[in-house]
Amino acid sequence: MTSIDHPSFGKLDPSRIIMFDTTLRDGEQSPGFSMNMQEKLRMAEALAELGVDVIEAGFPIASPGDFDSVKLIAENIRGPVICGLARTGRADILRAAEAIAPAERRRIHIFVSTSALHMKYKLRVEPEVVLQMTTDSVTLARQYADDVEWSAEDGSRTDPDFLCRCVEAAIKAGATTINIPDTVGYALPEDMRRIFTMLRERVPGAEKVILSTHNHNDLGLAVANTIAAVEAGVRQIECTINGIGERAGNAALEEIVMAIRTRPDAVPARPNIVTEKILRTSKLLATITGFDVQPNKAIVGRNAFAHESGIHQDGVLKNAATYEIMTPESVGWTKSNLVMGKHSGRAAFRDKLRALGYGEVGDNHLNDAFRRFKDLADRKKVVYDDDIVALVDDEVVRGHDRIRFVSLDVRSGSKAPPTAELEIEIDGETVAATATGDGPVDATFMAIRSLFPHEATLSLYSVGAVTEGTDAQARVTVRLSEGGKTVDGQGADTDTIVASARAYVHALNKLLVKRARTEPQALSA
Ligand code: KIV
Ligand code: ZN
Repeated sequence: MTSIDHPSFGKLDPSRIIMFDTTLRDGEQSPGFSMNMQEKLRMAEALAELGVDVIEAGFPIASPGDFDSVKLIAENIRGPVICGLARTGRADILRAAEAIAPAERRRIHIFVSTSALHMKYKLRVEPEVVLQMTTDSVTLARQYADDVEWSAEDGSRTDPDFLCRCVEAAIKAGATTINIPDTVGYALPEDMRRIFTMLRERVPGAEKVILSTHNHNDLGLAVANTIAAVEAGVRQIECTINGIGERAGNAALEEIVMAIRTRPDAVPARPNIVTEKILRTSKLLATITGFDVQPNKAIVGRNAFAHESGIHQDGVLKNAATYEIMTPESVGWTKSNLVMGKHSGRAAFRDKLRALGYGEVGDNHLNDAFRRFKDLADRKKVVYDDDIVALVDDEVVRGHDRIRFVSLDVRSGSKAPPTAELEIEIDGETVAATATGDGPVDATFMAIRSLFPHEATLSLYSVGAVTEGTDAQARVTVRLSEGGKTVDGQGADTDTIVASARAYVHALNKLLVKRARTEPQALSA
């Protein structure tokens, strides 16, 4: 493979892999996931710190909220290229161009379906029209950005000859990255090798552009397909944190990066990811979206480095390499250590946040988080790193929510009906209510419902622990469903009922974002 001169990255040596993260676009299309603008910005900051090369910040024409969040990210994030998605139409491209305009480095990403099935039933146009749409859209996008990506939607199910013609047209019109998505997660690793080998052999100019892979996980093969594509000469990987995305999700960034890093003998590729920040980024996303990863999830699941069998434990004690193919520390796991107590000051707390990878937390958020830390330290014998992460994520992430938890006083027992006295803030105004219910949690939820009436139904309520011990913080998940849409909210506190109230309020905020996104005009790719 030769080195490529790319408008955003300059001379790229053959082993350098571009990590394109689409957590904020394809990832956000996961059922039940939606993020508000500030949450997206927080996530984009974390992605930049993680070292991703391109952040696909959204689909600007999809809704005013999508446009605003892409623009906000373009204005604030420095380092990665900021990318906006567009279909081939003029309005889409101009909207994407406008949203990414403030970015230091920008990319327009155009997609159009190329498979016979999609062209006939979805686009209802002839293949020649798709070819023309490709040429016209890439030519137009190049007037607004030097860095233009073109994607063949449903590319893995596209007729090979037609795919070669489309890719040639996109390159001729000025595309600098060519992406072949396995949109429906149908491909096998062998298909990936065949497709990219074919493009490199048959398409004039393929050696001058970056070839890119984008895999969905419907058959659980997204990561395997990604690695196969890299072996076949692909230089850009599209992926998401925790593998979130449409249906079964996208290829998971953490799994791809660690596969490449753990097996340099088999995959000679070099992504610029700061692997020690992987876990932190994964947890932040879980807090923002309200969805935890499953315990056995590779790399970032709670059990990923847990050894249950006595034989394994014995082996690890003698030499960790016996059963660990990478160190937990290399992806950000640390031994849960006692950090601070109730006498620790604000400066020590700020230092601790830096050590936990938070960068600079604004004064307001710091004050709120510090207040909650003091409160926690009063109630809990030992405060671990994980406690602080749960508490700060909760505060930083919720800082811009429309509805905010303020205080809760609950009385329950065997003599009188459980009663909850609740204060919340709605759009900056504090409101209070008292309600009774079948139990303390029910009374609390009734109080929330009376202050913020809504039709959503509670479809899941679950309680877990952030750390170990009877004084551990409870982490509660609340799932609300409304009009076929589902959202999960999370809250953490040493008091399970307070954690429940926080989780419910979080879910309500997500529902508000979801409602805005499903206004008649809203689209997803
Ligand atoms: O899966 C897909 O085809 C996509 C495109 C919009 C790139 O997400
Ligand atoms: Zn996709």
